[in-house]
Amino acid sequence: MFNRKTFLAILFVLLFALAGCGGNDPEPTATPAPAKPAAAAAPAVVGDAAAGETVFMSICIACHGPDAKGVTGLGKSLHTADSEFVRGKSDDELVQFILVGRTPDDPLNTTGVGMPAKGGNPAITEQQLHDVVAYIRGLK
Ligand code: HEC
Repeated sequence: MFNRKTFLAILFVLLFALAGCGGNDPEPTATPAPAKPAAAAAPAVVGDAAAGETVFMSICIACHGPDAKGVTGLGKSLHTADSEFVRGKSDDELVQFILVGRTPDDPLNTTGVGMPAKGGNPAITEQQLHDVVAYIRGLK
């Protein structure tokens, strides 16, 4: 059926394929991927106080006043010196607070007036929340 030449050719191909498989040799161990540098991890959002001032002056100013010292019957002072709440929270915690706000019936509410979620502006981004917190931190 096969002539000698064809037989040798097939044999050669088979041997070649076997050699290619590495016989019974264990699979070469994969070189471990180099550890990712920390910077490649999800970066923490860093607030920009200057951008935060713009956010404050367009949203928060309505209730907290242009100097963030509060408005009678509306929002409270956000200055670190005046607000134990602002003093005691981390930046992330303040961002979380602004996201949800504080209803008038919240036990932590001291004025009987509600702080709307996101300052009442649903379009505010997480970056802007971090920015406005950075701005609040710089209030003196
Ligand atoms: C519609 C009015 C209103 C707007 C707009 C508003 N707030 Fe408030 N905010 C309040 C009120 C009222 C309180 C106080 C609630 C209470 O009595 O505990 C408050 C409380 C806070 C507190 C907690 C202060 C404390 O000492 O407990 C922070 C922080 C705060 N607001 C940040 C912001 C930021 C930042 C913005 C803008 C993105 C904003 N608020 C916009 C009404 C407002």
